[in-house]
Amino acid sequence: MNVIDYLRQHIRTVPDWPSPGVQFRDITPLLQNPRVFRVLIDQFVHRYMAPDLRPDVVAGIDARGFILGAVIAYELNIGFVPIRKKGKLPFATVSEEYELEYGSATVEIHTDAVGPGDTVLLIDDLIATGGTMMAGKRLLEKLGASVVEGAAIVDLPELGGSQMLRESGLPLFTLVDFA
Ligand code: PRP
Ligand code: ADE
Repeated sequence: MNVIDYLRQHIRTVPDWPSPGVQFRDITPLLQNPRVFRVLIDQFVHRYMAPDLRPDVVAGIDARGFILGAVIAYELNIGFVPIRKKGKLPFATVSEEYELEYGSATVEIHTDAVGPGDTVLLIDDLIATGGTMMAGKRLLEKLGASVVEGAAIVDLPELGGSQMLRESGLPLFTLVDFA
């Protein structure tokens, strides 16, 4: 079995959660099994070790992007910064509002998290409408940083987010598509 199918087998689909009609793609089984977790993390680490893609910083999006991003940053020996839902960060922040597949929200980042010239890997677990990742990119750019690539485990291409992000000029790396 190839690596992508192996990872796909460890993503659980939960129908009608958190609201009717949503097929929730649950990545927790990927994290629970240590062999699968290592295979997953290695996909990202090997890609971003390459000199042309190696970032200065990893930015992870609340909440599942923290799990991936912190481990990848540790393995790359670079720093990790959190992009959090509104009202959670204690120091000075900048904010961006965005729309979700189910609702709307605001994300924030500390003003000293990144600076002009920094190159950033922006990571989350999943891309649906792309609104979250776009808001994260805008936050990083507000602080003068540039996003080398957006990365996620799962893409839901039918929701149009990955296409929208690529058309906006953000290179994307995702592992598993669900139609
Ligand atoms: C989920 C997911 C992504 C986002 C993707 O997070 O983890 O961050 O939605 O959706 P989008 O591409 O339409 O923006 P959610 O907002 O549910 O928050 P959580 O991680 O706290 O559960
Ligand atoms: N975030 C937005 N849509 C989602 C989905 N279908 N599964 C998991 N996380 C999501």
